[in-house]
This record gives sequence, C-alpha cells and structure tokens, in this order.
Amino acid sequence: MDLIHTVGELRKRLGGERSIVLVPTMGNLHAGHLALVEEANRHGACIVTSLFVNRLQFEPGGDFDRYPRTLAEDCAKLERAGCHVAFAPEERELYPEPQEILLQPPKLAEQLCGDFRPGHFQGVVTVVAKLFNIVAPHTAIFGRKDYQQLAVIRALVRQLNYPIAIVGVETVREPDGLALSSRNGYLSSGERTEAVRLNRNLRRIKEKIEAGERDFGALCSFAIKDLTDAGWKVDYVAVRHQRGLALPGPADRDLVVLAAAWLGKTRLIDNLEIRA
Ligand code: PAJ
Repeated sequence: MDLIHTVGELRKRLGGERSIVLVPTMGNLHAGHLALVEEANRHGACIVTSLFVNRLQFEPGGDFDRYPRTLAEDCAKLERAGCHVAFAPEERELYPEPQEILLQPPKLAEQLCGDFRPGHFQGVVTVVAKLFNIVAPHTAIFGRKDYQQLAVIRALVRQLNYPIAIVGVETVREPDGLALSSRNGYLSSGERTEAVRLNRNLRRIKEKIEAGERDFGALCSFAIKDLTDAGWKVDYVAVRHQRGLALPGPADRDLVVLAAAWLGKTRLIDNLEIRA
C-alpha cells in the first residue's frame, strides 16, 4: 500500500488506473471503516482511502482538536484490509488558501443533524467534492451509519453531475448494538454501558412501526423521555421517509428512524431502516 500526502503525488500514482474506488474517512479507523474498504474491493481494482480530519465540518467549539489521529495504526489496518493507496494530506495541502468557495448543501441537509450542527454539511459536501475532483473515482463508498450524510452525498453527485456511483454500506455494530464510531472512544466505561440505550430505543420504535403503530410522534416522544430520564441530552429522534428524508405520510412504507443524542460530552448518532 502506498501512503501519499500530497495531491500532486496522488494524481501521479493514480494516472494509469482505470477503476478507482474512493473510501473517504477522517481516520481513527475501526471495523465500520474497514467494512467500507472490503466493499470497495468488490467494485474496482484500485482502492483509495482518504484520511483527513476536515476542520470545515466541525462547528466552532466542536471536537476538531481532540478528534483522534492515529495514522500509523490506520495504515496497518488498511494494508490488511486490501487498500492500495492511503491519502493523508496535511490541512494546508487540501486548504492551501482560505476555502472561500463553499458548496451549498441540499434542502434535506437543513433538518436533523443540520439543525444542530450549523455549517456541518456544507463542510462535508465541500471536502467530498474536493476529494472527488482530486481522486476522480468511478465509485465511492459511504456508511449508512451517517444516513443523512449519505443522502446529502447522493444529492451532490446527482446535482453536480459527478460520474461516480455511490454505494452505501450497512452499519457495523458492537455485539450489544452500539454503532461503531471513532467518538465511542470518548465514552467512560459507565457511559459505554449506557450507550446502548440509543440503539435499544430505535429498535423499539422499529418493532412498533413494523407491528402497525402509526403515531410516529408518540413513539419518538417516548424514546426522547426514556433517554432524557437516563441523563442524555437528545438532539432529535425522528421518523422519516428513506428517500430525501421527508416527513412521512401515513401511506409511506420505506421509513427510517434516526436519532442524535449527547451522553456526557459525546454526541452519538444512529438509525434503523423500517419497512412499515
Ligand atoms: P468518518 O466519520 O471517519 O466516517 C467515514 C465513513 O465511514 C463514512 O461513510 C461513515 O458513514 C462510515 N462509518 C462510520 N462508522 C461506521 C459504522 N459503524 N458502520 C459502517 N460505516 C461506518 O463521515 C466522515 O468521516 C466524514 O464526514 C467524511 C465523509 C470523510 C468527510 O469528511
């Protein structure tokens, strides 16, 4: 595997490649990221994983400074997972001058996480567009764990005519149901035990809806109360249509329940698709 730090070197390395698959990450890789690399191997001959903690998508006062950076361990994992190129640029390599051109995210980004993380999706679409332009992959792989992000990226590709197939990969979880996340490392051991409550509430909502319940508001309120009573600070628990994350009507069947909540100083997100 080649470890590359500059755009120039990367373009040179990828020059002769015909079938490039990109896996964008912020590093600190866990089995969820590695599942994306494994999926990438089914779609092309040259797998590029980017590792870049993108300041633009962190809100002021967010965890940009303390976000874990573990490049040496990440490279060992990527090599074992069958990645061909790790692209780990310095900040000044991707942002050599102030990034004045910022992409306006689609409407579907103005809700859920977009409500609570101002500027977040603008930072995401801007850096992902830059990575698409630099790497020019024919396929890019994203996790369904960041469900709204995946929907935003699909809109980016449609609306800016990128000739890139977007593949979504199922969320990888701990045995108790907690979705793997680089931010799980912030949890104390007590919080780690408690963290499963988020997924447990989503599973309960999914089961109730699949059993015929239609009062989504009441189901979400119950989950918010359960989390709040246990000491969480809930950003949202919401049921949406899978496509475009619109508010569902009573006849809609392809649903998803999404949640974001703070456990102490750690913000966790999760979602489950529902076939009503
Ligand atoms: P990061 O949080 O590092 O996640 C990189 C990719 O891994 C995303 O597509 C995310 O959905 C996926 N992922 C994370 N945890 C997962 C899990 N438990 N199961 C399956 N996939 C999982 O998302 C970002 O970085 C950034 O916003 C990025 C797209 C790289 C732009 O900066």
